[in-house]
Amino acid sequence: MSMKKIIIANWKMNPQILDEALRLAKGLLARSLPKNAEIVIAPPFVYLELLKKNCGKEIKLAGQNISFAERGAFTGEISGLMLKNLGCDYVIVGHSERRYKMGETDEMINLKIKEALKSRLTPILAVGEREKDDDIIQILTKQIRGALGGVEASEMSRLIIAYEPVWAISRPSADIASALSQTASQCPDTPDHALSAALLIKKIIGNLYGADWATNLPVLYGGSVSEENASDFISQNGISGALVGAASLELEKFVKIIKAAEINE
Ligand code: PGA
Repeated sequence: MSMKKIIIANWKMNPQILDEALRLAKGLLARSLPKNAEIVIAPPFVYLELLKKNCGKEIKLAGQNISFAERGAFTGEISGLMLKNLGCDYVIVGHSERRYKMGETDEMINLKIKEALKSRLTPILAVGEREKDDDIIQILTKQIRGALGGVEASEMSRLIIAYEPVWAISRPSADIASALSQTASQCPDTPDHALSAALLIKKIIGNLYGADWATNLPVLYGGSVSEENASDFISQNGISGALVGAASLELEKFVKIIKAAEINE
């Protein structure tokens, strides 16, 4: 079955100035974006409003994070409703940088998934093992069961899961150029391994919610996706797109990744 591919730009804590964020988004819009792929930018919160005004309907927006609470005394947090009201359709939940640098637990991620669904945002749940030789079955099962506790099967049609092995994500770098050169030079993961992880994720969802939900669940791959390797990952039948970090900050490279999605639709 052919599914619309989803390509998400995870800008992380970049770029440092608003003009550059606008230049990237407008540059993307100036290209003929494929109709058969969903293009999403997850910028830092502070750029969301201006990007919404400038991105039209062609580019969708995602939050990079969401509060586990609905409203109130949570200094520094952003609620699901705020994201929705700013024009987001998606939110990344449980990115490994939030799990391991900001101490997010499966319990917090579970609350965030529920807040996202309540706010009518599509959660992009990020899961993945830290080390290459970690027990992937045990880790993905724990992360997925932990994130989805109490989530009804009827909400499964609004969930996306991104498989992001931490050992394959391009390392944080003082400057974008060196992160990019690392991304381009080599992705430590292989399309075959990514596919087997995606199928494992579907199996876990199948065990929890039934085979139909598992079949229809979009599973994305993330971890050093570049313009050189995007097609190899995205062309896999069980992989519905990519979550792209470093390479999404370079217009020409990101455009090539999007084109790979178009070809592989
Ligand atoms: P990367 O990041 O493409 O720079 O490896 C992906 C991610 O962390 O979402």
